[in-house]
Amino acid sequence: MTPVANTEVKSFWEANPVAAEGIAATAGTPEFFRSFDAIREADDCEPWSFSDEIHGYSTSAGKRVLDVGCGNGYVLAQYAKFGADVTGVDLTQTAINLSQARFALAGLTGAFHTTDGHRLPFPDASFDIACSMGVLHHIEDPHPMIAEMRRVLKPGGRIILMLYYRGSWKYQVVFRVKRLFDPRYRGKSQQEALNMNDGDDCPLAKVYTRGQARSLLAGFTEYHDELNQLSFRQLLLVPGLDRLLRRLLPAANRNIFARTMGWNLYIKAMKPS
Ligand SMILES: C[S@@+](CC[C@H](N)C(=O)[O-])C[C@H]1O[C@@H](n2cnc3c(N)ncnc32)[C@H](O)[C@@H]1O
Repeated sequence: MTPVANTEVKSFWEANPVAAEGIAATAGTPEFFRSFDAIREADDCEPWSFSDEIHGYSTSAGKRVLDVGCGNGYVLAQYAKFGADVTGVDLTQTAINLSQARFALAGLTGAFHTTDGHRLPFPDASFDIACSMGVLHHIEDPHPMIAEMRRVLKPGGRIILMLYYRGSWKYQVVFRVKRLFDPRYRGKSQQEALNMNDGDDCPLAKVYTRGQARSLLAGFTEYHDELNQLSFRQLLLVPGLDRLLRRLLPAANRNIFARTMGWNLYIKAMKPS
């Protein structure tokens, strides 16, 4: 497979900011952010309490936090509400404009830079937390960006990442079923179906096993991983059946299915002191 150039990744995300195609409101308006946050925090996506456990928003006062590929600023806004000193970088001007709009509307303070995460414009040991959620699986080789994040972390600082999971129900079953029955997916390879997860023209998406994810953070200590996110719509495959059975099933998050076959693999570790 020909490697996907960073310029292709950039043009896709400039034109298709995260989740915007599923939101009717104009990007950057209060209604847009309300809709985005409701989708993000839904029971079958990433409830706020789960996200707080992963990131530690509520104990982040005074910490210096960097988000690489910050999108529309959702994660950094949660940190900033609790008094963290936040910085966001993103490859695209679209994302930086959206992050700044979100912060202005919420009366929050943060610093934002349109920058490729492969070269972070910060001195060594600048941050207590460096996170990158749903970004590294859109990049051919994540190692250089992780090395940069490690460089700018203080000793004892935490790295937090989210990657798509190879063993997920979505990758192993849903995409295969779509390739058989959904006209949009028919004739596509498994890799092409995976790329389409974030938009029909998304040039690249990857999935990681737990072992591959762990090896990305070799050199860090206190490694922790966790799976989540499996909607009933995905699990039950048949449209409408999820609505009928929802009341009988356990919550969509953190149940046995989401914990073993969830789409999102969250990994965290510490830069050694
Ligand atoms: C799926 S979105 C995730 C946004 C955000 N992290 C979130 O959780 O909502 C991926 C983001 O990564 C950004 N991105 C992709 N490659 C990047 C790079 N090399 N450096 C910085 N940002 C990048 C894209 O512009 C896009 O905003």
